[in-house]
Amino acid sequence: METIFAVAVDGPAGSGKSTVAKEIAKRLGILYIDTGAMYRTVGYAAQKKGIALEDETAVTAMLSDLDMKICPQEDGQKIYLEGEDVTQKIRTQEAGKGASIVAAYAGVRQELVQLQQKMAQAHSVIMDGRDIATTVLPQAQVKIYLDASAEERAKRRVGELQAQGKQADLEVVKQEILQRDDQDMHRAISPLRCAPDATVVDTTGMDIAAVVETLLQIITKKVQ
Ligand code: DC
Repeated sequence: METIFAVAVDGPAGSGKSTVAKEIAKRLGILYIDTGAMYRTVGYAAQKKGIALEDETAVTAMLSDLDMKICPQEDGQKIYLEGEDVTQKIRTQEAGKGASIVAAYAGVRQELVQLQQKMAQAHSVIMDGRDIATTVLPQAQVKIYLDASAEERAKRRVGELQAQGKQADLEVVKQEILQRDDQDMHRAISPLRCAPDATVVDTTGMDIAAVVETLLQIITKKVQ
């Protein structure tokens, strides 16, 4: 395999990006970088500081001295906000919605994209998000666009919530997913879209192991 290479994984919410990317990172011994967690942390930080998520100027200004640390680990990634481990706190539906709002701001994207590019400079990475193949790492050796039907993504989300002992209505979750897709695909800056040179993998009806195997085959073919 090449000394340093990058795998970009993009796709809508609930397409299985992070679960699959984490496993591939482990199997290939490369870094896993979850860029969604960074947008989630920015939204979470704004709320914690009493800044309205809709206030673009204030949210963007907050970033200049925001103490956010991303620490890739063997089994995923930890993220710290002002010394506090917020890795789990940012996994809520609420934090996802907040992330989607702040992710539309040019100043926020500029700052986070720079950070993401720096992280991929010295190590081989598999990075997941919405704009990795199109904006963050357009030179990535492997570009994958993971998709799944909204119905399937909603079912997966309900399953995850049930596993945490929480009840959720499938139709409500599906509507939330469709709303987030709409927001992420139609914003002015770096909207979610499939890069022309990405390989599309539709994971509807596939289990995690099958998706991991499919992606590993794509990666090993492209990175020799
Ligand atoms: O992948 P996720 O659900 O953790 O992402 C949360 C939100 O952050 C998502 O709605 C869109 C935004 N996001 C983005 O705009 N660009 C990225 N590279 C990653 C996430």
